[in-house]
Amino acid sequence: MTEAWADWVWLNGRLVRGAEAAVSVFDRGFLLGDGLFETLRAVDGRLFRPERHLARLQRGAAYLGLELTAGADELIAALWETLQANHLEDAALRLTVSRGAGPPGLGLAGTGVATSVIAARAFHGYPDHWYDPGATAVLSRVVKNEQSQLCGIKSISWLEHVMARAEAAEKGADEALLRNTRGDLVEGSGTNLFIISGGRILTPDLASGCLPGVTREAVLELGQEMGLEVREESLPSEALAAADEAILTNSLLGAAPLVRVEGQRISSGQPGPITRRLAEGYRALVAREAR
Ligand SMILES: Cc1ncc(COP(=O)(O)O)c(C=O)c1O
Repeated sequence: MTEAWADWVWLNGRLVRGAEAAVSVFDRGFLLGDGLFETLRAVDGRLFRPERHLARLQRGAAYLGLELTAGADELIAALWETLQANHLEDAALRLTVSRGAGPPGLGLAGTGVATSVIAARAFHGYPDHWYDPGATAVLSRVVKNEQSQLCGIKSISWLEHVMARAEAAEKGADEALLRNTRGDLVEGSGTNLFIISGGRILTPDLASGCLPGVTREAVLELGQEMGLEVREESLPSEALAAADEAILTNSLLGAAPLVRVEGQRISSGQPGPITRRLAEGYRALVAREAR
């Protein structure tokens, strides 16, 4: 079950009660989806590679010309502060930044100061079945344009992903996999995708249009440390049928087996040995590195 948001929210540098936290109805985040977000998981009150999340946020902000009002260190401190204010150890954190309120229209002239919000909720992992026996997915109708300037940016205009997730729910699956205009696999609605084939770890390259996930990066590192061949490349959707194993990753989920797509089992339909090693390796890495 998804826990409700915790009481205290960090809003533009101050902790306020969520029920009382207010953002302008003229905020461009609300009007235009003009903003960015990050989702982080806290385990035992510690965060895994928060600087990688902040680097992605800063890259997105620089690309959009959105002036952040706080630096990475300050925002990381605010994430910890929000955890502490809510007495949370194991939690999901959502950092949202928008370009703030502005005059009518699309133009950037006259826009005010960015709005920054951090909200938290208790979180102990995805429902058990995601990890064992593993997640199921459908192939989404949503086509991701890998040529879009917004690929790689975690924008709050996330409607394609919302639509894909709704499709998964409609069809009784856990996740929906997006393909790009070439028909190649990109990612899940809220996850990166890996395939294990012949002992190699394969994942769609960034040119596929996927998000450069923080967990994806860590899993690629782990695969290399395990001495396995790791490749970022274009993956046609047929690669799933031929895969020995498949994995979904994100910061809240960690690494979880994907065992069925469109009702078809991937290999035996059981979590495979490389998936187990990577999932375990990821948990150990988080325990070692989180701060
Ligand atoms: C579309 C999409 N891809 C991938 C990811 C995984 O990113 P990360 O590992 O940084 O959480 C997410 C996370 O929310 C996502 O929404």
